Amino acid sequence: MKADFIINGRRESLEFDSRATLLEVLRNSGHREVKSGCENGECGVCTVLLDGIPVNSCMVLAASVIGREVTTIRGLTEDDDTGLSPVQEAFAEAGGIQCGFCTPAKVLVTYSLLSRNPQPSDEDIMNALDGNICRCTGYVKILDSVKLAAEKLKASGKESRKERGK
Ligand code: FES
Ligand code: FES
Repeated sequence: MKADFIINGRRESLEFDSRATLLEVLRNSGHREVKSGCENGECGVCTVLLDGIPVNSCMVLAASVIGREVTTIRGLTEDDDTGLSPVQEAFAEAGGIQCGFCTPAKVLVTYSLLSRNPQPSDEDIMNALDGNICRCTGYVKILDSVKLAAEKLKASGKESRKERGK
C-alpha cells in the first residue's frame, strides 16, 4: 500500500506492506537515525515521538499512524551553528552519551518529558526513561543530562517545540 506520512514536519509518500511496523517503514525509507534493537518492545532504542508522545516504533503498525505527526531525532535539530537542540547539547556535555546507540531514544523521551513537565523530579525522570535501556553506563550521567537539559531549555525559553510553533 502507499500513504502519506508526516515525518519531522514533512510529508513523505511511502510504499509499505500493510503489516509493516513503523520502525520497518522508517528505516526502509532512509530514517536510519531510528535504531533497531530487540524489535519486541523491550529495549526502547526504536523510540520516536507520535504526536509528541514516545512510542516504541517496533510495536506500532505503520498503517495506524498515517496522518499523525512522527518525530525522529532528526526532527529536533536546530538551525544554528551546532545543529543541536538544547537537549542534545545537554547529553553531550553531561556525559549521558557513551556508544550513542540508545541516545536518540533517550533524547526524544527527554524532550517529550520536558515539554510536558519542565522541572521534573528524579522520580519523574526515571519513570519517563524506564523503558529505555542503556547497556553502556550507569544511569547517573543520563539523569544529570536530563537535569542539564531542563536548565538549558529554561534559559533559552525553548521549553518545547510546540511552543515555538514548529
Ligand atoms: S527495538 Fe523496539 S523496543 Fe527494542
Ligand atoms: S550509550 Fe550505549 S547503549 Fe546507551
